[in-house]
Amino acid sequence: MAALSPDGILLTGRVAVITGAARGLGRAIADAFAVFGAHVAVCDRDRPEGELAMTLDVRDPVAVDVFARAVEERWGRVDVLVNNAGGTFHAAFADTSVRGERTLVEENFTQATGMIRRLLPLMGEGASIVNVTSGEAHQAAPGFAVYAAMKAALESLTRSLALELAPRGIRVNAIAPDALPTEGELEMREVAPEGSLPYEPARLPPLGRLGEPSDAAAVALFLAGDLARFVTGTTVHVDGGIHAAGGWRRT
Ligand SMILES: NC(=O)c1ccc[n+]([C@@H]2O[C@H](COP(=O)([O-])OP(=O)(O)OC[C@H]3O[C@@H](n4cnc5c(N)ncnc54)[C@H](O)[C@@H]3O)[C@@H](O)[C@H]2O)c1
Repeated sequence: MAALSPDGILLTGRVAVITGAARGLGRAIADAFAVFGAHVAVCDRDRPEGELAMTLDVRDPVAVDVFARAVEERWGRVDVLVNNAGGTFHAAFADTSVRGERTLVEENFTQATGMIRRLLPLMGEGASIVNVTSGEAHQAAPGFAVYAAMKAALESLTRSLALELAPRGIRVNAIAPDALPTEGELEMREVAPEGSLPYEPARLPPLGRLGEPSDAAAVALFLAGDLARFVTGTTVHVDGGIHAAGGWRRT
């Protein structure tokens, strides 16, 4: 049996691709991976910072191909892919246009399948994919119906790919965040101020505080690295206990 070592958490020399890394969770994940020794390749439609950084829209297959070629030229392989880019707007389903729906589908699902399809040939034994989904993939999400459905689709994809890629030694897992205030979250709240909606999410997680982007980065580190060598096809909720709480609310 392989002994555990503190080095198991390190990503020394691994090549990690993180999407949507200009801010928020993606930036925290990229920063943490670099601190733990990884070569970090990042992309975002806003300008990201990293060892290899490219400004692009992850929905654009031509731009993704240019990015993938740059990663391949520099390192020849990808060890970790974190599909973090994503986002939503608040709108009742009845008010969501066909165009708006397509945006949500592409931003939260097909961009991830496109990125995986393009980078998979560069991934081998020991590689790992981490898909960032949402707590909303697991519950009704009024005002975010299509977004939540696409995040649920990404979780389903995570499980299926875990099985398809297990024979190649590639693990696939998901992180379902909730209650981690970021610029993206704050922008959403500006559009939908407190008290203006017929439904609102529970405010305080059972752990008694809101989370931080680094809380998601810590779990991404674990899932990406060797300590998670027997973990595939699963979702880790990074939400201070909200998912477990179900209908219970901390007073
Ligand atoms: N923060 C939370 O509590 C929370 C909760 C549930 C799910 N999430 C998920 O976590 C991920 C990160 O969210 P965040 O809170 O850091 O949001 P954020 O808006 O602060 O950051 C998202 C980053 O992704 C980039 N991005 C989005 N779409 C892109 C595209 N098409 N092409 C290139 N870059 C793109 C944005 O420019 C931004 O830099 C998202 O997938 C989001 O759905 C976050």
